[in-house]
Parts: sequence; C-alpha cells; structure tokens
Amino acid sequence: TVFDEVERACAAHGGTVRRGTGQQDGVPRPAGDPDAAPVGAGVTPAQLVFALVPTIPAVAPPGGEATGSPDGDPVDAPRAGLDATGAGPLGPEGFAVARHGEVTVVLAEEPAGLLYGLFEVVRLGEAAFGPPYPARAHRPAMRRRMLDHWDNVDVHPVMGQVERGYAGGSIFWRDGRPRRDHARLRAYARLLAACGVNAVSVNNVNVHATEARLLTERLDDVAEIADVLRPYGIRVHLSVTFAAPVVLDALPTADPLDDAVRAWWAETTRRVYARIPDFGGFVVKADSEGQPGPFSYGRDHADGANLLAQALDPYDGVVHWRAFVYNHRQDWRDRSTDRARAAHDHFALLDGRFRDNVIVQVKHGPMDFQTREPVSPVITAMPGTRLAVEFQVTQEYTGQQRHVCYLAPWWSEVLRFGWGEHGRTVAGVAAAGGDLVGVSNVGDDPFWTGHPLAQANLYAFGRLAWDPRLTPQAVLDEWIDLTFDPAATADPELLRGTLHEVMDDSWRSYERYTAPLGVGFMVRPGHHYGPDVDGYEYTSWGTYHFADRDGVGVDRTRATGTGFTGQYPPPWSQVYESLASCPDELLLFFHHVPYGHLLHSGGTVIQHIYDTHFDGMAEVAEMCRRWKSLAGLVDAALHARVTERLDEQLRCAQEWCDQINAYFYRRSGIPDAHGRTLY
Ligand code: GCU
Repeated sequence: TVFDEVERACAAHGGTVRRGTGQQDGVPRPAGDPDAAPVGAGVTPAQLVFALVPTIPAVAPPGGEATGSPDGDPVDAPRAGLDATGAGPLGPEGFAVARHGEVTVVLAEEPAGLLYGLFEVVRLGEAAFGPPYPARAHRPAMRRRMLDHWDNVDVHPVMGQVERGYAGGSIFWRDGRPRRDHARLRAYARLLAACGVNAVSVNNVNVHATEARLLTERLDDVAEIADVLRPYGIRVHLSVTFAAPVVLDALPTADPLDDAVRAWWAETTRRVYARIPDFGGFVVKADSEGQPGPFSYGRDHADGANLLAQALDPYDGVVHWRAFVYNHRQDWRDRSTDRARAAHDHFALLDGRFRDNVIVQVKHGPMDFQTREPVSPVITAMPGTRLAVEFQVTQEYTGQQRHVCYLAPWWSEVLRFGWGEHGRTVAGVAAAGGDLVGVSNVGDDPFWTGHPLAQANLYAFGRLAWDPRLTPQAVLDEWIDLTFDPAATADPELLRGTLHEVMDDSWRSYERYTAPLGVGFMVRPGHHYGPDVDGYEYTSWGTYHFADRDGVGVDRTRATGTGFTGQYPPPWSQVYESLASCPDELLLFFHHVPYGHLLHSGGTVIQHIYDTHFDGMAEVAEMCRRWKSLAGLVDAALHARVTERLDEQLRCAQEWCDQINAYFYRRSGIPDAHGRTLY
C-alpha cells in the first residue's frame, strides 16, 4: 500500500510514521531501507514524524490557536495551527509540513498525502530541518495528473515500440511481451510520484491488434504493471479501441446504442475491475486518423463516450475521450476546410451531453503540438463538460529529445491563458473536474528521457499539474537541486547558473530557428525531425503555410478566411481577427500577409525570419559553449550525452536556418538587410 511505502521511505530517512489519529498511538519505526534518497543530513528518528490525522475541520474553532509545546506531542501544535488558520480539509492527496521545536512534522489525512509530503521534505532538503515554521498546507490543483504512454506492445513496423518515443524502448513492453523489469518499473513509479503524477495509461492511443487484447485476454499484463505502480499512488488506465466488441468478440457491430454492445462493454469492464479494483478507466481516440469510432454507425462522440462511461460508472472509472478529431484527407486547394476548426466544430455543440465520468481530452492547441499555437478554443467552449488539457511532454515537434527545449515556459503561458468576465483560465478549466494529461517522454534509456535535460520537462509537467502557479524558473530550480545537488559540487553557482542559461529560454530559441511566427509544420514528413518547408504543403493532413512569391500564412479570419477566429470568446475573437492586435508570434497562424508586412516589433516579416534564424542558431552555439564549462561538475556520462546531443542540435539548427532563410529568400527575392549569406 501507499502507507507501507511511506513507512519504508521514512524509516530510511530515520523518521517515524504514525498510523491512526496522530495522537499517542503511533509506533516509531527503526531505520531500514537503504535505497531511498537521503534528506537532511544527520536527521534522527525524533526529528521527522509523519502522521495520519483525522479530517481537519474546514472552519476554525473560535479563538483556536496552536497548542502543544516542544515538550508535548510534536503532532499536536502544527495540527492545531492548521485548524486555527481554517485551512480546510487536506483532501486525499494534500499534506502539511511544519517544523515545531526540533521536530519536522508531515500531516496528511490519507496515505497518499504522506507520500507527497515525503517528497516535499526531500525538495526542501536541509531547509525542512531549520528554524521552526508553522504548518504549510499543500493540495494538488488538478485531481488527476496523468501521463499517456504511446507505447506499443508489439514493435510497430513504422512507429516502433514507442510511437513518437525518443528515449529507447518502452518501459512496459518489449517485442510483444511485458518487459518485467520490476526494479526499473518501481524506480519509475517513485520518479513519477516525486513529480506528482498519479495516473498512467500504459499503451498507445492508436490501438493495434495485440494492444486491443490488453482489455481482455492480456489483462494480466496490465494488472502486473498496476501492482508495481499502486504503492506510489498511481492508477493504471488503458487505451482501448472503439471497435473492441467486433475485433475481440466478433460482435456484428460496435454501435454505441446497440444493447448487445452495451452489455459487452459492461461485462468486459466488470472483469477488468474484478482483476484490477483500482483501475482508472479507458482512453479513446475515436474517428481520428483512421481509428474506429461512433461515426461508422451514424452516432456522435457523446454517444460513443457515454457508452464506455456507463460501463465504467459502477466502479468510479472515467473515460478520457480525445477531441483530436479532424479530416485527415484534405485537399490543399480547398481553402474552406480548416483543420484548426475541426475539434471545436465536432465537440462544442455536444457540451452538456456527456455523462459525468466522461472527460473530453483536448490538445492544448488546435493543430498538433507545434512549437507555437494559440490555445485551443475548445477549452473555452465547453463549460458543461469535464475537460482534460493534453500536453506533449515527448518532443515530437520540439526537437525529439535531441534538442534542449524546456517546455515549462510554454505550458505555463497556456495554463495562464484567460478569457471571459469571470476570469476563467486553462488551468482553472483543467482543475474544475478535469485533468492535466501529458504524452510521456520516458523510455528504457538509462537517463529515462534520452536527452538528460528532457527530464526537466517530465518534472515540470507533474509540478505544474500540482500547482500551475509555479514559475518555470522555480520549477527548474527544484529540478536542478534534486538532480544535480549543486551544493555538493565545487561550484554551485556555475552549475545552477549555466543550467538556467542553457534551459530557461531554450523553447524560444528553438522557436527562433524553426518555423516562423506560429505557422508550424515545416518538418520532414513522417518522422517530423529537421526542416522541410514544403514537406507537408501539398499533403492531405491540412498542415499548410500557403507561402507564395508575395506572402505567407493562413487566413483564419472571419472577414476573409476560414472563420476560425470566430471560435474564440471575446476578447480573443477580436484580438486574433485584427492585424492591428494579433500578437506577432501567432501572426502567420491567423493571417496571410506580404513579406513586407510590419510587425509590432518594428521589423518586416521577411527580416524577422532572417534575424530570428541567425539569432536562434547563435544561441545554440552559445548553449554548447556554456555546457562545455560544466565538465567535471556533473556526472561524466551525463555530460558526454548532453554534449553529443548539443552537437546534433547545433548541426540541425544550422540546417533549419539555411533552409528556412533560403526558401523565403528565393520565394520573396528580398535580400537580408544585414547582407548575411543566403543561399
Ligand atoms: C500526432 C502524432 C501521432 C499521434 C497523434 C495523436 O499526429 O504524430 O503519432 O498518434 O498526434 O495525438 O493521436
């Protein structure tokens, strides 16, 4: 159980754990397990106490004050202190940490809270054991902080073991079988809990033949993973195919309104819960990029999602129904079809029709995890539906874990995006009954994420889901402390400063040397790495930039374009519609403009393209130089891995710079104002 896990870890740190009321019935535990990370040097058993306490009343007792003294029970005072501030229930995962006299106390109402409290103590390090401080309560903003693994059980002929995976093989599966490296899996579970992640789906959203069977005859494989993740407070979810009744049991139909289909899902789901009682639920990609769905039967997404939700309802399970639905058979000559509109066109009108345990899972942008996109208008348009916001932690379009690209600054912008009179935000929508979901960037690579610095994205995803108000710099600082322990090195300032210099602005550097001004998709088709300006221009995927000799960009205005701007609430519907107010970084996402168009920043579009590409490339050269200065301060193998990746990033940035600049020079015929070489 989670409680046993806390006991083990706490004992390893020389602390004590109390079961029950947190009064006098706790049993001190001896030190034991050597495999956990140390906290606070020289901590003795009496200095760290974990206590499960009964629900802390929501309303403070009048005049309630901290009682207890350094001589009394160390749990009493912080607990009374929490009561007095009227902090309210800590909830199933919340906790409070206090330093009272010589004792650091972690309080929680449920074991999972103690677990997260333990990791907070680890984060605080020595500071947790300094001068006394009153109880500080922590509660997660999002109730579910979930990672979707796009892992295949069988190696897929095109996508491999992990679709869009850049960190080796799958941590769960290898060549058609469970990987069964339980020590590694357990370490992964602990890593996820330390980041705050509490749910994982274990297979790809594109569900192929073998993976479909995880739901039925291969359920034991899923149960085995669930058993290893459970002690870390992580529930397992499964991606399922909507056609399961047909492909697994030869039913004549998967029609969501058919009684036999309903019965099939009810019985199949009952069996899942009989085997995995805390199973989280299903993830579904339906009627999207070739996956089956309710459209085949003339039904809509609400019919489809509700079918599965009904089956999950008796067990408190949820269905994550993805909104990534669009026509992937477009014709570039037809400018009336706009892929950016699709999710809103399909889903907004279904608001209010989904059952309570349906969570519509929306990619944070309207297209597909490009380096820069506006926030998806779907997130603003479904107040009567639980929504999960989906981020891509794996760097499909942001350098594939060969480039340093710290994504927290972008995610933070997205989470803070607001609209409407009531000050709604993306973070608020996800927190109000929904979730934050990330596509995992982890594999069986010894550094977990291929690029060691990409671990920071995994960490930041979990931390922002716990508390979206955290700043990207603060999260990076935490990650640096936990990963490199700068204080223990010869030059803490150089180490910390250099990592910030390399990582803080790395997403914007990446943006500068790749596709300009929000236009997106200038990548090589298929694998999506490296530049190919026209690679997706005439394909069926709806990913166009419409560059010609006069200008570039997609007209998505209501006045003259696809009308996509009309899907936004005020003020954004107007901000994006008007050239006068559209932010530079999204200009080409919303407008088709001549190369001489003047940006708010003062330069022309064409000169901006040249300048940012030369600048972005120079920034990568500078990153390489700075990283070299850390030789000897960080682990040698890690240093070598990052150096090798940075060399590739520099090569690739140069290629992007050359190709983008050459393309637009040749199209426009306009030379660089600074006379630099254009090909
Ligand atoms: C992108 C990605 C696919 C993935 C899809 C999805 O298009 O390239 O590999 O399946 O997103 O999110 O479903």
